[in-house]
Amino acid sequence: MLLGGVPMSWMNKWVGGYPVYFATASGSTISDVDGNTYIDFCLGDTGAMAGHSPAATSEAIAERAGGAGGITTMLPNADATRVAINLRERFGLDYWQFTLSATDANRFALRLARQITQRRKVLVFSYCYHGTVDESFVTLSDGQPVSRAGNVGPSVDPTETTEVVEFNDLSALREVLARGEIAAILAEPALTNIGIVLPEDEFLRQVREAANEYGTLLILDETHTFSAGYNGASGLYGVRPDILTIGKSLGGGVPFGAYGMSSEVAARIAAQSEADYVDTGGIGGTLAGNALSLGAARATLEEVFTRENFETMVGLADRFATGVSQAIRKYDLPWCIVQLGARTEYRFVAEAPSTGGASAAAADEDLDSYFHLFMLNRGVLMTPFHNMALMSPATTAAQVDAHSHLFDQACAALVAP
Ligand SMILES: Cc1ncc(COP(=O)(O)O)c(C=O)c1O
Repeated sequence: MLLGGVPMSWMNKWVGGYPVYFATASGSTISDVDGNTYIDFCLGDTGAMAGHSPAATSEAIAERAGGAGGITTMLPNADATRVAINLRERFGLDYWQFTLSATDANRFALRLARQITQRRKVLVFSYCYHGTVDESFVTLSDGQPVSRAGNVGPSVDPTETTEVVEFNDLSALREVLARGEIAAILAEPALTNIGIVLPEDEFLRQVREAANEYGTLLILDETHTFSAGYNGASGLYGVRPDILTIGKSLGGGVPFGAYGMSSEVAARIAAQSEADYVDTGGIGGTLAGNALSLGAARATLEEVFTRENFETMVGLADRFATGVSQAIRKYDLPWCIVQLGARTEYRFVAEAPSTGGASAAAADEDLDSYFHLFMLNRGVLMTPFHNMALMSPATTAAQVDAHSHLFDQACAALVAP
């Protein structure tokens, strides 16, 4: 049977110790096997940011899976080019490759960065999360790099492969880069996995400049920060990385990841004649770039993640944040709400933290659990990792208002004598 009762152990991370077993999901709603329905602000922790089974994506999947389609062949097709064109237009990077997950996109980006710079180490921000990428499981503890608590069976101590500094700490970053050992900085434009931690003014531009100065590549992971808007957070903040990685939402729920690179990076890869890019060199995935994923990604990017839909999603997140802020003010609570485009998260501190370390310290498990369960029991699903809420094009203003109403009730119950 299933280990832990679930297909993957992380699915048990719900308040109450076990997950809701879902039966169907459509648009912004989920139904469970007991017949309850939920407004879904979790959206598969971004995997379903396009909404559940969006029509355009479903049609593309049906076309591929149907009689004369073909799901996987080991051959390129026209959808691959269309996806690359869409991503190039959005993110401003010329060349693209496809994977089945964001984790793989990050792993391959790091391999390429080490190969072309001939440097061994990478730099990450403390409390980052980039999927199950070995090099990224390192945090600062009392200012010292340590293997992240709970790191399962690491093959090497990640402090040997990775330097770590706090987000928004430019001088620490420059100090590490100045040693000339760092192949790449792997970063989200805003941290999203330890609460949302936004970049301070100019921080990303200064990181870009420092990377250029010290010959380090900048890899921006837009897997979650794509919520910022049509051009992602790199577009919003005006920073162009050398390599951009992304996954989760692009396939509209079908496994798909991508990494894009500048022409300069592509030229450096091409110049590395001793590296095996076509067989057993460490960059691969037999089903990567399969026709089903590419069809789903083409439809999702061209027809669902449009500028108009992003406007709707961000508008809904604004409305969500307003509702939460009103209750916070009404009950005079020392809390705040943080927003990155279509993604919002309430924090139980008066001011949003500016580093991963501060954000980890500000976490309040009891309050997180209280709000999570309060919502779940009343038909609203929040992301179990923090109280994050994401808007899809299918989300409605009425659903957002239903949350605002419940949030007000939850606060009232909490402050009641
Ligand atoms: C920023 C970021 N990058 C990469 C990943 C990895 O995605 P996946 O587990 O789909 O490979 C995650 C997962 O949460 C993420 O938050």
